[in-house]
Amino acid sequence: MGWDAASLPDAGGRTVVITGANAGVGYFTAEQLARAGAHVVLACRDPERAEAAVSAIRRRVPRASVEAMPLDVTDRRSIDAAAHALLERDRVDALVLNAGLVHPPRTRKTDEYGNELVLSTNVLGHFRLVAQALPALTATPGSRIVTLGSLASRMGRLRLDDLQLERGYTSWRAYSGSKIAAQAFGFELDRRLRASGADVQSIVVHPGYSTSGRTPGIRGVNTPSRLKRFGDNLQAAWTQGKDDGAHAPVRAVLDPAVSGGEFLGPALWTKGAPVHTPATRASRSPRLGARLWPLLEAASGQAFPLP
Ligand SMILES: NC(=O)c1ccc[n+]([C@@H]2O[C@H](COP(=O)([O-])OP(=O)(O)OC[C@H]3O[C@@H](n4cnc5c(N)ncnc54)[C@H](OP(=O)(O)O)[C@@H]3O)[C@@H](O)[C@H]2O)c1
Repeated sequence: MGWDAASLPDAGGRTVVITGANAGVGYFTAEQLARAGAHVVLACRDPERAEAAVSAIRRRVPRASVEAMPLDVTDRRSIDAAAHALLERDRVDALVLNAGLVHPPRTRKTDEYGNELVLSTNVLGHFRLVAQALPALTATPGSRIVTLGSLASRMGRLRLDDLQLERGYTSWRAYSGSKIAAQAFGFELDRRLRASGADVQSIVVHPGYSTSGRTPGIRGVNTPSRLKRFGDNLQAAWTQGKDDGAHAPVRAVLDPAVSGGEFLGPALWTKGAPVHTPATRASRSPRLGARLWPLLEAASGQAFPLP
């Protein structure tokens, strides 16, 4: 079935929480959902950047219902406080796991728990957040968890025997591995939710190749230099703006025809309208998902409440 990103269904009455929503794909996911009438919660690590994004949405979307919530996905205290705050809410219709380290450090860095930083940011923090906040979603009929994967999952390998890249770290291995793990988490979560009978769907998406130089300028949110705009525009044939990159997560949140376990991305792989698209065999593999799960539990220090 088709989907018109310019004409979204009414999302009035729904609450959607988006991690890393002060910039990039996360910001535009929040803005588009606010325009559709959802109450959006921007879960961000920097209060000033979060407020700039809240103000931008209020400026650009008349009658937007929007608020910020503190969340640093590499800080367990912050994750636990955010999960607690979600459990206090009347409803959480969707949780979009978007925050990400997209320009990983050249040399291996760790968070304060000793976990490799890219894995920590792109996977472990979200794993811990979902594990703790799940009752808020199960209590909201038809709720959704949307995980941001990547085309990079097609260009790498997940090393379960060296998940933390203690041997042979490169920034590319860290990024592609983290995105394979994120997708495998999203698909395994769907299998476990189905097996438990919970009315929560886990959907995985990717935004193609979305660059800030091809994205509208917004004060406090997206202000690329002229040089960046020039460079990014040279790649216009195969890239899109982050506003267009947000169409896949927005569809995953709103389209009643999309179900748990599905994968959405741009029609032309790197750009285009959000459509159903094939995910790699590795990230879909139940065997890999089952082996990855306890490793994520151990690294995040968090048992997951679904068997
Ligand atoms: N753009 C693409 O072409 C592309 C392609 C494939 C997948 N993706 C995925 O899409 C997602 C968004 O990417 P993007 O291009 O929009 O990236 P981006 O513009 O760099 O935005 C990343 C967002 O994540 C936040 N973030 C980073 N570390 C965080 C932490 N520890 N705690 C909380 N928030 C944190 C950033 O906040 P700060 O401003 O505080 O740093 C920012 O809001 C990522 O998961 C990425 O892997 C993007």
